Amino acid sequence: MPDTGLTNSRIIAAYRERTRGSESLAREAQAYFPSGITHDSRYLEPYGIYVERAKGPRKWDVDGNEYVDYFGGHGALILGHGHPTVMAAAHAALETGTHFGASNRAEMLWAKEVQALVPSAERVRFTSSGTEATHLALRLARAHTGRRKLARLMTHFHGWHDHMTSGYTGHFDGSPTPGVLPEVAASVVLLPPNDLAAVDAAFAADRDIAAIILEPTGATFGMVPIAADYLRGLRDLCTRHGVVLIFDEVVTGFRVSPGGAQAEYAVVPDMSTLAKILSGGLPGGAIVGRKAIMDQLDHAAMRAAGKEKIEHHGTYNANPLSAAAGAAALEIIRTTDACARANAYGAELRQQLNTVLTEQNVPWAAYGTFSGFHIFTNPKGRPVSPRSFDPAAVPYDELKTNPPVLTRKFRLAMLINGVEVTGWPGGTISATHGQREMEQTVAAFRESLLMLKREGEL
Ligand SMILES: Cc1ncc(COP(=O)(O)O)c(C=O)c1O
Repeated sequence: MPDTGLTNSRIIAAYRERTRGSESLAREAQAYFPSGITHDSRYLEPYGIYVERAKGPRKWDVDGNEYVDYFGGHGALILGHGHPTVMAAAHAALETGTHFGASNRAEMLWAKEVQALVPSAERVRFTSSGTEATHLALRLARAHTGRRKLARLMTHFHGWHDHMTSGYTGHFDGSPTPGVLPEVAASVVLLPPNDLAAVDAAFAADRDIAAIILEPTGATFGMVPIAADYLRGLRDLCTRHGVVLIFDEVVTGFRVSPGGAQAEYAVVPDMSTLAKILSGGLPGGAIVGRKAIMDQLDHAAMRAAGKEKIEHHGTYNANPLSAAAGAAALEIIRTTDACARANAYGAELRQQLNTVLTEQNVPWAAYGTFSGFHIFTNPKGRPVSPRSFDPAAVPYDELKTNPPVLTRKFRLAMLINGVEVTGWPGGTISATHGQREMEQTVAAFRESLLMLKREGEL
């Protein structure tokens, strides 16, 4: 086990006490995986919980503890864990075969749902993950424009491939992260968020920028929020400078509204990348966009244009299982108020958490948009009034910074009180979160703050 240096913490002792089974598995996992984990967001000291099953808004660990879940399959599960209709579709697909090595009806039904919902989806190409989607989007944009560079906004996340590493949590100067070629890092133009003048200047100064990609409600689902006006301004700048506008709707797609942020704000990008909710809790991603750009993947169109087609493979693209679950999930999202319900819960939760912070006199704030929430842990000790906190007034790097020990203890205290939040800290909400989850979360939050106070952390 990593040495946390926190052996005197009562919070950590209490966490260990109730998660002995998880601790034992975490110890064993050290022999298999770096840090004992399989995704960086699951890193938690002294160790994270091992989950055995999940249903709706809840999950249960190997020690039998029950949690209100705000990881939500990293945002994929707006319909909650194990939605019966989605599960039935996946089970039925499983019975017929998991990979035909051939086209099938399910992929068409899936694409039809995507086209019905996402305004920019003139054509669809499925991938196996969001990372693959942003990778392919970049290649298509380069080939379409004949330009080489990619503009990105600092703190925005687009997966883990080589062009997306600098400027997410660090390397804001554009320097390469370990293992990334300096030439690749140099082909990325990092721009500050919410600054249209900076974008205009960069586009004017550098005619080699093929595309700009961003999370349309702001980095990490609005942790560093973006205003709708910015999106409209960006749309205009891209059109004026011939730069391909890519909305990364891996998180916001089918969540902010059934048609994602682009439908909510009526700003249509040239291309969009999708994943998570797209495939109903199974692996999958997609790139969608204007036919003229997507045609670069089309055999006949490229033959007719006398151009070389862009090759794109991927063994599990549109696999029947993900297609069936995805189509079922998207149909529910199209025909019900799932997004609106999750959004309403988000607004109410943020308000109630801020009431607790005010009551407890803690200078943090709960903020966010739609079905997400973020806890600003105030790393620089600003005077903060939780109810009127304005994240736009805080620099992006400060919004992204959390005191590590305090944040870790906060997460552990929430777990002890039966709620799992993400490491931001914050979470994404499903349409299955209801009054019981709200009450439990608010009570857990209050008790966690008291535990942190007793430990001298607040
Ligand atoms: C906005 C955004 N883009 C891309 C990705 C990468 O998607 P995946 O994890 O499916 O590769 C993520 C993953 O969290 C994401 O949040």
